[in-house]
Amino acid sequence: MHAPSPPSLRLCVNGAVHEVGVAPTAPLLAVLRNDLGLNGPKYGCGLGECGACTVLIDGVAARACVIPAGGVVGREITSLEGLGTRAMPHPVQRAFIDEQAAQCGYCLNGMVMMAAALLARDPCADEAAIRRELSGNLCRCGTHVEIVRAVLRAATNVAPSGAHTP
Ligand code: FES
Ligand code: FES
Repeated sequence: MHAPSPPSLRLCVNGAVHEVGVAPTAPLLAVLRNDLGLNGPKYGCGLGECGACTVLIDGVAARACVIPAGGVVGREITSLEGLGTRAMPHPVQRAFIDEQAAQCGYCLNGMVMMAAALLARDPCADEAAIRRELSGNLCRCGTHVEIVRAVLRAATNVAPSGAHTP
């Protein structure tokens, strides 16, 4: 006798609906990477502590490694792949490229997604707000200075004109 296959879940990811045959308790990160082939979100600690796996759920940054897939049915999930395209990168992605803000790059998914969520709710975020927002995201390469500079550049690009001038 075959073991019963898990019921499928309908997940809305990057604007498309996907049916995935996974248990509701499966970590969202595993579903994104293994079932949907989205490798932007990274597996770092698997414990919700490093931020490498960050995605947006209804526009709010969340750690996909500790979120059960069954808990996000009916929600809008955005991974790094849904943020921008190669031809039209999100302003945060553009700024990271312009500032060359990476060494190994493993933490960048989390940094970019956190920054995108921050600037969506506060386009005028200053350096203190950016540092606060990113303080829970770990970068083992010590690229923090360049990362903060990149997010500041993105903030300058998305904020209403003149918002950053004293
Ligand atoms: S892998 Fe999810 S927080 Fe570290
Ligand atoms: S650039 Fe390597 S972990 Fe941040």
